[in-house]
Amino acid sequence: MKTPIIDSLKILQRKNEISFHTPGHKGKDTLIEWTKYIPNIDTTELPGMDNLHNATGIIKESQQLAAKTFGALETIYSVNGTTGGIYIALAAITNPGDKILIQRDSHKSMYNASILNRLDIEYIYANYNEAHHMYTGVNPKSIELKLKEDPDIKVVAITYPNYYGICSDIKKIAEIVHNYDKILLVDEAHGSHFVFSDKLPLSSLEVHADITIQSTHKTLPSFTQTSMIHVGTHRVNIEKLKTMSSLYQTTSPSYLFMASLEAARAYMEGEGKGRLDRNIDIISYLTDTLQRIYGAYVFTGAEDDNTIYDKDITKILFGIKGITGTNLSRMLMEDYNIYLEMADFNYALALASLMNEKSDFEMLIKAVENIAKHGPNKSSSSINLHMPMSRIVLPVYEAFYSNKKAVALKESIGRVSSSFIIPYPPGIPLICPGEEITEELVDYITFSLSKGIDIIGLIGDNKEKIEIIE
Ligand SMILES: Cc1ncc(COP(=O)(O)O)c(C=O)c1O
Repeated sequence: MKTPIIDSLKILQRKNEISFHTPGHKGKDTLIEWTKYIPNIDTTELPGMDNLHNATGIIKESQQLAAKTFGALETIYSVNGTTGGIYIALAAITNPGDKILIQRDSHKSMYNASILNRLDIEYIYANYNEAHHMYTGVNPKSIELKLKEDPDIKVVAITYPNYYGICSDIKKIAEIVHNYDKILLVDEAHGSHFVFSDKLPLSSLEVHADITIQSTHKTLPSFTQTSMIHVGTHRVNIEKLKTMSSLYQTTSPSYLFMASLEAARAYMEGEGKGRLDRNIDIISYLTDTLQRIYGAYVFTGAEDDNTIYDKDITKILFGIKGITGTNLSRMLMEDYNIYLEMADFNYALALASLMNEKSDFEMLIKAVENIAKHGPNKSSSSINLHMPMSRIVLPVYEAFYSNKKAVALKESIGRVSSSFIIPYPPGIPLICPGEEITEELVDYITFSLSKGIDIIGLIGDNKEKIEIIE
């Protein structure tokens, strides 16, 4: 009897790793001792158990409680993460053929939602901070300029915070979008915890974003795949949102998932809030300590970058001079049993949550101290990851469904891509369906591959081909 997934999960459990990655529960129970109730409570729409697709009873009440806690008019649970939440939200606030303005560094789910809903997209670009080698915030003025230029834009979709915890000036952005009478959608996948502490950035719901989608599972103690779609204003048609939720979600939503969303919310109303505040103080101490270690650095912001309005301290972005972020992450895993969320050439990212223990942070400090002591510490290990600009030739949905063929990278120059090319990390699409493939982009791909960066979407044993429109 072969059970490769179960076998690997058992090995992982024995490792008892220190988790600085999602999910936010970090392997711990909060309100409910899950092992006592599973699998019995994995049930279906029995009498009295309500129905996510027509919530009138316990699910309705649970969603209303969530709406109150997170500051929304209405909340709908997503059992298909923020990915599903974005499909639902965009479908609810647009009609096929509408034009939307999205960040070029949006998560893939925003592009997929545009394909599914047949939306025309326009880009705004986040700033690339050359000194710190990372994408930072979006300048609100660039949004205003686009809205002034193109009155057909119906929705503005912002990622807030970004993967690194960097927050654009969401208050200003909301003002601008509403001045132009457009709808603001916020992908707040990484910010469900914001509302629970004054020491964290503002939640977009506090500045009247129209619709906000949060991956509760990333930063709060709920199960992977659980998210919330929050409606912030009356600009969103709630009945249409419910219809779209039914269209995109399984007819058998997991009660474990819904219960875990409820548990996360209820826990945060009590003990969780205090735990979060305590951990923020510990992270603040950790940040100071890491910065004092010879050779180590932590990104906490950049005064000369006016696109960074705030920074979420729970996303610890750090490095050691002379060691790539990827190598640092591997050393932490292999030698110290510390698992991080992500690493790129320049940084390693520890995603802390309220469920981390003080000892986790102490272990991280000790490990960095040790590695820095023995590390090279001399030359800088930075590389420039600034992606070339893109030119849309065809709508993303049209290119996605076109006939395609694979050609060698060099031969693709001047042609139109039919697929997504995504370097991991950082997981931002470098090329999208419908965009022109330029020499600069091909050079970027070749350079990234030479640096060991994994690129999804290329074809061939050596990733030497790319799919183009015939
Ligand atoms: C910015 C952003 N948006 C959306 C998503 C999708 O979230 P989920 O994993 O909850 O589907 C992610 C996932 O990493 C993300 O980073």
